[in-house]
Amino acid sequence: MKNSEDLELQEQPVVLVTGCSQGGIGHALARAFAANKCTVVAASRSRSSMADLERDPRFFLQELDVRSEQSVQRAVKNVLEKYGCVDVLVNNAGIQCVGPLAEVPLSAVEQTFDTNVYGTLRMVQAVVPHMANRKKGKIVNVGSVAAMAPGPWSGTYTASKAAVHALTDTLRLELSHFGIDVVNVVPGAIKSNIGNSAVASYNQMPEWNLFKPFERAIRERAYFSQRSKSTPTDEFAKNTVATILKKNPPAWFSSGHYSTVMAIMYHMPICVKDFLLRKSMNC
Ligand SMILES: NC(=O)c1ccc[n+]([C@@H]2O[C@H](COP(=O)([O-])OP(=O)(O)OC[C@H]3O[C@@H](n4cnc5c(N)ncnc54)[C@H](OP(=O)(O)O)[C@@H]3O)[C@@H](O)[C@H]2O)c1
Repeated sequence: MKNSEDLELQEQPVVLVTGCSQGGIGHALARAFAANKCTVVAASRSRSSMADLERDPRFFLQELDVRSEQSVQRAVKNVLEKYGCVDVLVNNAGIQCVGPLAEVPLSAVEQTFDTNVYGTLRMVQAVVPHMANRKKGKIVNVGSVAAMAPGPWSGTYTASKAAVHALTDTLRLELSHFGIDVVNVVPGAIKSNIGNSAVASYNQMPEWNLFKPFERAIRERAYFSQRSKSTPTDEFAKNTVATILKKNPPAWFSSGHYSTVMAIMYHMPICVKDFLLRKSMNC
């Protein structure tokens, strides 16, 4: 006799993952869902960034820019036309933003919030009516341990992830009436393209005025999650997908390098937190 989790896997849930470029967490999550017999809609801004998935019949590839309402609506429509439902939505697409808050261009702040926060909500608002109609679904928002102990040099990113954590908690309460589970996945430091992408954006920013002496520390912040001990993407994805596919997934799932340290820091007095962050971030 099969247990309920086996039955759930048997149904081949349709999973839509945003931000699936090769080398990143989304790509690894997409492959891990496929390995668990899910039908996977792998979405990214460009198909070429997911070219290795192109010929694999387990994946339906979609170009999707979470900053564009039109793009979101088109991709969700394509998925509903093909499969009739979205069982699991994983809001993984996200960008880092490095720079001192007092000088970082507001256009970069807007871009970060538009991607990480409004992009998540755009996807939620596009998919929830269909999930609510079926009284079934899971929404997974990818936050960050950075939001548990906000440090210097990446305040924009950290604030955007704190917003994701807050809206995830609210969504969980509001959507439970419609049979929709909402999970906050909170990665520690995971190997991906995020450091290189952050530096590419950082290189476009103007020179700092007050913060010139901190230039090196600020630039290093972009790679903070990409050090030698960072958790391999596949390992993180395997654990995360196993958790998401549980019949009753937890409200919060954090794993990866630094996830325990950051959980401890979250409970520390602010003066201790500040001392540790000043030391580790050369502030
Ligand atoms: N890696 C870590 O240590 C870590 C830690 C905590 C949280 N996270 C979170 O994990 C998620 C995945 O990040 P990652 O580390 O895998 O970084 P990544 O390798 O840079 O992947 C980010 C993905 O998001 C996509 N993306 C960016 N802007 C987008 C937009 N407007 N529309 C659609 N897709 C967009 C990127 O597409 P392009 O390839 O086109 O840029 C890429 O596919 C992010 O939410 C990140 O904040 C990562």
